[in-house]
Amino acid sequence: MSNYHIKHLEEYFQVYRKSVRDPEAFWEEIAEEHFVWRKKWDRVLRWDFKKPEVAWFEGARLNITENCLDRHLPVRGDKTAILFEPNDPSGEAQHITYKELHERVCRMANVLKEHGVKKGDRICIYLPMIPELAVAVLACARIGAIHSVVFAGFSSNALATRINDSDCKLVITSDGSYRGAKTLNLKSIVDTALEDCPGVDTVLVARRTGEEVAMKDGRDKWLQPLLDEAYADCVAEIMDAEDPLFILYTSGSTGKPKGMVHSCGGYMVYTAYTFKNIFQYREQDVYWCTADIGWITGHSYIVYGPLANGATTVMFEGVPSYPDYGRFWEVVEKHRVNQFYTAPTAIRALAKESLDYVEKYDLSSLKVLGSVGEPINEEAWHWYNNNIGRNKCPIVDTWWQTETGGIMISPIPFVTPTTPTFATLPFIGIQPALMDEEGNEIKGNQVSGRLCIKFPWPSMARTIWGNHDRYRDTYFSAYADKYFTGDGASRDAVGYYRITGRVDDVIIVSGHNLGTAPIEDSINEHPAVAESAIVGFPHDVKGNALYGFVILKETGESRNRENLHKEINQQITEQIGPIAKLDKIQFVPGLPKTRSGKIMRRILRKIAAGQTDDLGDISTLLNPEVVQEIIDQAEV
Ligand code: WTA
Repeated sequence: MSNYHIKHLEEYFQVYRKSVRDPEAFWEEIAEEHFVWRKKWDRVLRWDFKKPEVAWFEGARLNITENCLDRHLPVRGDKTAILFEPNDPSGEAQHITYKELHERVCRMANVLKEHGVKKGDRICIYLPMIPELAVAVLACARIGAIHSVVFAGFSSNALATRINDSDCKLVITSDGSYRGAKTLNLKSIVDTALEDCPGVDTVLVARRTGEEVAMKDGRDKWLQPLLDEAYADCVAEIMDAEDPLFILYTSGSTGKPKGMVHSCGGYMVYTAYTFKNIFQYREQDVYWCTADIGWITGHSYIVYGPLANGATTVMFEGVPSYPDYGRFWEVVEKHRVNQFYTAPTAIRALAKESLDYVEKYDLSSLKVLGSVGEPINEEAWHWYNNNIGRNKCPIVDTWWQTETGGIMISPIPFVTPTTPTFATLPFIGIQPALMDEEGNEIKGNQVSGRLCIKFPWPSMARTIWGNHDRYRDTYFSAYADKYFTGDGASRDAVGYYRITGRVDDVIIVSGHNLGTAPIEDSINEHPAVAESAIVGFPHDVKGNALYGFVILKETGESRNRENLHKEINQQITEQIGPIAKLDKIQFVPGLPKTRSGKIMRRILRKIAAGQTDDLGDISTLLNPEVVQEIIDQAEV
């Protein structure tokens, strides 16, 4: 029996048991039979969550691009690898075959080499969803450079922080990007960022919008002429399985963003294996994940997972609302998409619009629907199931994280019976545990607690770039010998998991993780602001939106509140990006604090959600009187 492709429930249980009973034998078999290695491992797994230290396939040598590209050339060289659908619906889609993708990656890899890039160097990629983005990612992997993709919606400040944190020496960007009816001048954002990034000596600029940009002599170069001249083949750098493949930043509840480091071998094995099963991908299928490659979902399930399986993966440059709310469904019809993977926030936004936008299109090609990034509410689940899946496409509600590299808890379509709002069962090899606040595992069913993982899996992040202590403190110190996810979850009578949301100070807005601390820091820099606290409150499209409680300095008290609201959001947009803007701001006389001076966000969350009759005990606060004042003036 091949364990690579699971086809029915009994087989799932059987393979799951095997993967847990003897993880090393299990993963060794998967790795051996389905990937190309230049040298096999000396040891499948070495781990110690105390240190923490995790190594999979140690001693093995490989290049992930040989698995994603070269090995497909003899069998599916003319098959479409990337199907690029541009922002403008009248623009032509591009079918980039495996052969062409291989050539484009090699050319880009050679351009990087000519600019002095070597194995282990960090390269920042700040590009819109155009083919160059996937090509740049793979080109870095080809030569062993570590890519750090920064989502092209982040501000110059956020970009500079990320470039400096991992010491990137080269940036790949474009003149501009299209987003619906708008364009954004990315190059000027890079220029501003680089005023604070002394380590960057080269900027390669792709042409997309054709708008005018400033090119700095000696630093900035147009990419296309360099690609045209570059040699179309490039020998792959042979990497150790544990060498870093990429860094991807995710928000923490405190401090600066965390550069999660993923490795070459384990990441490849796990993303490929999950992709095959969780989307039940078959050779002729067209698969579409609507995420941006700037997020982990795009890394694992637009680029690496699909390409390692020789799949056709759609790359969509546009937005769901342009030119109208039927755009997703138009693309599904046009390319006969079989698997469609998106975020609850997009589903909720589209569900608010007329069904005419859906009914105009033939969605009969769809087989599997996916959801990722935040809990999917019941209403959105049913809308998706009824109107998009027409009650015949299983919905895979996939729970995972930037840190986990791949999907951790999810149904397998046509295998696991689904239940709305439940991510259902752990994927093969994943051993979840629910913990109580005293640090004990809660056994049995119909329970809830904090979600941990008890045993390593191949694609887990190995460290935080430059800060292994923070990695340990964030993920391995809350519960002994366990990886702590930061999420709460429940387990129902049949053992299905339901993720209930973050239990720390990360807020998920439209599927994007936002830490409270950096937003508060940015607000506090406004000259009129003395102190602030951010919490999330329920929002019918975004899932959560941000509510800021702001104390003004005495000198700021007389200022126009409406203008201040705008100025504060402007400041957040500049320092972090528009996704972190506050929906509501309340100017308050004080913030509820514990006697040790910690802000009691729990109380603020209740106020923001309008649940003020259920505040719990506030008598231990340093300043309980302020709570009533805040409630009286609240914006809900
Ligand atoms: C949340 C995205 C409920 C969760 C892949 C997690 C989810 C955080 C789901 C990670 C889901 C992701 N149901 N919650 N299916 N998927 N989350 O790092 O809180 O951007 O910890 O990775 O998103 O977000 P990240």
